Amino acid sequence: METKVYKQKDDNLKELAEILKAGGLVAIPTETVYGLAADGLNPEAVKKIFTAKNRPMDNPLILHIFEIDQIYDLVENLDPVYADILSKLWPGPLTVILKKSSLIPDEVSAGLDTVAIRMPDKKLTRDLISLAGSPLAAPSANISGRPSPTSAKAVLADMNGRIEAILDGGDSKIGIESTVLDLSVSPVKILRPGYYTQEILEEYFGQVDLDLALKDKDQTPKSPGQKYKHYSPRAKVVVFMGDDDKVVNEIKKISQDQENIGIMVFEDQVHKFPESEKVISMGSKDDLSEMAHMLFESFRDMDEKQVETILVQGVEEKGFGLSIMNRLNKAAGNNIKYII
Ligand code: TXA
Ligand code: MG
Repeated sequence: METKVYKQKDDNLKELAEILKAGGLVAIPTETVYGLAADGLNPEAVKKIFTAKNRPMDNPLILHIFEIDQIYDLVENLDPVYADILSKLWPGPLTVILKKSSLIPDEVSAGLDTVAIRMPDKKLTRDLISLAGSPLAAPSANISGRPSPTSAKAVLADMNGRIEAILDGGDSKIGIESTVLDLSVSPVKILRPGYYTQEILEEYFGQVDLDLALKDKDQTPKSPGQKYKHYSPRAKVVVFMGDDDKVVNEIKKISQDQENIGIMVFEDQVHKFPESEKVISMGSKDDLSEMAHMLFESFRDMDEKQVETILVQGVEEKGFGLSIMNRLNKAAGNNIKYII
């Protein structure tokens, strides 16, 4: 199959909606990462997502909607208090888990009695969902285990020949996936950390718990996807935690002893390394948005440069830092070095 890349144009949206209605696969841009979309109420179409991605069938998918009213058919019931909060946080990088209605195919929910739903903050994509006439099931548009794609180019690198089309909507603004929040339990619980942190969500929901598995690696995660190795470039990733100077000295030492090392450090540390295309700045430590934005793309970039090991400066696991470290921990297969 030839994978066609479409630019953002109204006529193109109509064509892409037809592909989706016919049960085909279209990669869609969102503010977090690109998604690999199919008609979420068509089991045969949904199955194709798992094949294209090599995704384990026990890992459920998120349904993407274009307006809040679309949720009511998809869940058993939505507490009006939650509906009100969602109308404030959506469209945006938040996925909620609710008891599913009988409309949801088992392929979407992986046999669970809940379903994940999100309204993406990208008008173009909401227009496509609306035209497709059905919620779109969409996991990140990478081969399972690889870094999530944040550009049409990254989608093409993984999915060329495997899907019908890609809608090129430019770079994803945020760069890491949505926060997954379980509203089917009380107090509500974060299953996957993301742009919306525990602190922000508590302003809306009151008490918000963190799934124990996010703190303790020996716990079984409640979100099936969290148990798999993830976000990994071909290169080995090692993350260094601790005082800036000590971390940088350690990274320098290792990079002098070994060949083919890639380095990702904060901008104020970059000047301590020889100038090289394999030394990448992650922006400011005080504003982690740049780090989130470039993380997955930089992993892919390092692979293109045939780097064997990537040494990354970590961040404190609080606020948005917790979400970024969640991705880094998985990319590194928990290979975290604490330099004291
Ligand atoms: O930002 C995002 O969320 C992106 C864009 C494309 O929307 N999507 C995304 O999908 O990251 P995916 O499939 O890569 O991750 C979905 C996560 C997985 O960890 C999955 O296990 C979890 O959501 N999930 C889905 N349905 C669930 C459910 N019913 N209960 C618990 N976890 C669920
Ligand atoms: Mg994913």
